[in-house]
Amino acid sequence: VAKLIIAGGTPLHGVVRVNGSKNGSLPLLAASLLVEGESVISNVPRIRDVETMRETLNSLGVACEWLDQSTIRVDASHIETTGAPYDLVRRMRASFYIAGPLLARCGEARVPLPGGCVIGQRPVDFHIAGFKALGAVVDERHGVVHARAERLRGTRIYLDPRLRSVGTTINVLMAATLAQGTTVIENAARDPDAVDCASFLAAAGASIEGIGTGTLIVRGVQRLQGCSYAASPDRMEAGTHLFAAAATGGDVLVEGARADDLDLVVSVLREAGAEVRRENGGLRCRMERRPRSFDLVTAPYPGFPTDLQPCAAVLAALADGRSVIEETIFEKRFNYVDELKRMGARIKLVDRTAIVTGTGRLSGAPVVGTDIRAAAALAIAALAAEGETEISGAEFLDRGYERFEEKLASLGADLRREGDSRARKAQLCFA
Ligand code: UD1
Repeated sequence: VAKLIIAGGTPLHGVVRVNGSKNGSLPLLAASLLVEGESVISNVPRIRDVETMRETLNSLGVACEWLDQSTIRVDASHIETTGAPYDLVRRMRASFYIAGPLLARCGEARVPLPGGCVIGQRPVDFHIAGFKALGAVVDERHGVVHARAERLRGTRIYLDPRLRSVGTTINVLMAATLAQGTTVIENAARDPDAVDCASFLAAAGASIEGIGTGTLIVRGVQRLQGCSYAASPDRMEAGTHLFAAAATGGDVLVEGARADDLDLVVSVLREAGAEVRRENGGLRCRMERRPRSFDLVTAPYPGFPTDLQPCAAVLAALADGRSVIEETIFEKRFNYVDELKRMGARIKLVDRTAIVTGTGRLSGAPVVGTDIRAAAALAIAALAAEGETEISGAEFLDRGYERFEEKLASLGADLRREGDSRARKAQLCFA
């Protein structure tokens, strides 16, 4: 198990650049399976989850290789098998993104039920309902989802408007591009990752209307052809740095952060007393006071992102006053709460709401990160805390953040890694 040891108390200062989006790159790689030829995807982060997707594509007989530090070429001229190995799929939920493209292109997909973060129930029932609506026959046996259809047929798919499932939107959209006839997806996710996927598919020859809106109209085509596409900057990484700057009372320019993707994150930071402004194609966050309390509710994009809820809670734990944080997307997003309490935070959980009474200061303690964003939030808490914090489960950071410690160290953080995991070594050897 990898441990991150952080000596807190230093305000972060300087400039940091965000990588390409994790949640954007993973569907782009999966969507390349629809393309009879070569796709070149740039601005891809060097993280564990991307490696897992790369290995998954390789396991299907599809060449998928790095061309440089952040560019991947996928050659899906031929797909050898429609079955993905359990060992790869169980590592992350986004592996299930290969199901839609395989089904549409090859007429069959055999994909084990996915694993991923432990942030609550994350079924794939909406994805499966979407495939069935498109005319596929789907069985689930021995933990494997088996979907078949000679050719999918366009239809109307109505997603739950309260959830606007990102994964379902993307999987169904990918499948619909090669279906016969027109598919209409209502209450589609509108976040930049779903938009990236739709824009990539359009660049490859798919006919999609309404990109960036809640209604996608897809007219099926016979085939998609190779193209190049750059993933958007990672708004979750950007948000993580902005909260780290605010929580430590620092001043950080996050280069590449797109203000338009982070509206509510910026609002929350400002409500907490930070000065946030656009600068040099990025966002600069400066905090010169003790944070003020604030309230937030997570919601599908453009609402406040559930992924950044744990980072916001750290700011609330330091704030002057009582903050109320409501989680509406994943019931176990509060996994970090008990760990943060070990550092002195005062948090009361009532169902899906955390009532956080700010204490002004946190103190270093041994804590455990249980998923990517929980580990990032605990790292921010540690940076703001007095004394030393030892975070176990730091390998989760490698799944989602490229060069997490290096970037923080460049902003003045005092931190080191112990007990390198195999995942970490894998990351270092391709850095
Ligand atoms: C993606 C992101 C994740 C982010 C989430 C919401 C990736 C790899 N992950 O996850 O970081 O927090 O969007 O913005 O991009 N649901 C079902 N059945 C389904 C599918 C979803 O019940 O078949 C539920 C989920 O349990 C959840 C809600 O719908 O409560 C939204 O999930 P969804 O938007 O699909 O999240 P993911 O795509 O898994």
